[in-house]
Amino acid sequence: MAFRAPGPCPQKTTIMIVIQTEKLSKIYSHDFIDVEYGRIKFNWFRRTVALENLDLEVKEGEIFGLLGPNGAGKSTTIKILMGILFASSGSAKIMGRPLGDKSVKQQIGFLPENPFFYDYLKGEEFLDYYGQLYGLPKSVRRKRIPELFETVGLPAHAPNLPLKGYSKGMLQRIGVAQAIISDPKIVVLDEPQSGLDPLGRKEIRDIILSLKESGKTVFFSSHILSDAELICDRVAIVNRGRLTAMGELGHLLSPKVKEYEVIASGLSKETVENVRRNAVKFIERENDVLVILPEESQARELLAKIVQEKATLVSLTPRKETLEEYFIREVSKAPGESKTAGVAGVR
Ligand SMILES: Nc1ncnc2c1ncn2[C@@H]1O[C@H](COP(=O)(O)OP(=O)(O)O)[C@@H](O)[C@H]1O
Ligand SMILES: [Mg+2]
Repeated sequence: MAFRAPGPCPQKTTIMIVIQTEKLSKIYSHDFIDVEYGRIKFNWFRRTVALENLDLEVKEGEIFGLLGPNGAGKSTTIKILMGILFASSGSAKIMGRPLGDKSVKQQIGFLPENPFFYDYLKGEEFLDYYGQLYGLPKSVRRKRIPELFETVGLPAHAPNLPLKGYSKGMLQRIGVAQAIISDPKIVVLDEPQSGLDPLGRKEIRDIILSLKESGKTVFFSSHILSDAELICDRVAIVNRGRLTAMGELGHLLSPKVKEYEVIASGLSKETVENVRRNAVKFIERENDVLVILPEESQARELLAKIVQEKATLVSLTPRKETLEEYFIREVSKAPGESKTAGVAGVR
């Protein structure tokens, strides 16, 4: 554990682990049903293994994405870290302290998944209320709240508008604003981009990047991989409660070029036919062809033909593996069995 306690420390290169979980597991027991079978009474209940031995490490100052399909256990992990739920087994530390430590809680800002906002509060009143909950004095709140509206990019009329008049994107942004009102060191966001349109998602990405620039650690969950790919320093992929992969995107994704996309115009019929045979994907439209070739040598051969036949090279794009392709490959490796099992206890 490389956590460095606050205070003078000459080793500037020490990497601080700000969130760490060790074999974190959570089993939900739910749906009790009483069943009478002859003279024996059964008490049936179902168990859902939501998390199984999850080991995570989030480093100081990074943007860390907890990624996984719906039901993977992302919210469960976050709720345990935030002290909303207790783990069934395993342990976790934030800034080197066990969960629940009050001094650490003051350093954390949190936006839950699907937050509930009180409709009739105006934006400014809402943030002022949260500022009070964090114990911020009035003078601090008066200065910080207008800054927050600017940081999260809310329009000029937002402070005086009741929250029932906010769009989904505005609500997410004011949600992020309440998460950072106490100027926390760690910002935890559960699916901050869900339900937003592409523009709204970009705005949240930009806010997350600006939080990192101001020195904060951002730990967020998402099932929108393309968004995570653009901003995360490191990611963990969870599936059915288990860690499938964790690391820097550059290390996880294969650096090798996966395939070559060539778009050309004016090739001879014979070359088009030859190239069709080697192509992973082939689209022909009038004079143009789009081909995806798996080998560099095949792409070179086609380029030579383009020159030879005085055809036009419209584009040549080497394609690397995307996070989405990696994710689908990793997630489909997992066993198909459901972890929701029926368990019977005799009374
Ligand atoms: N309160 C609960 N009671 C029973 N099962 C739950 C509860 N909350 C979540 N689950 C189950 O635990 C698993 C993980 O859920 P969750 O952590 O919400 O996943 P995610 O956030 O990745 O979508 C799912 O199978 C979900 O149905
Ligand atoms: Mg969730």
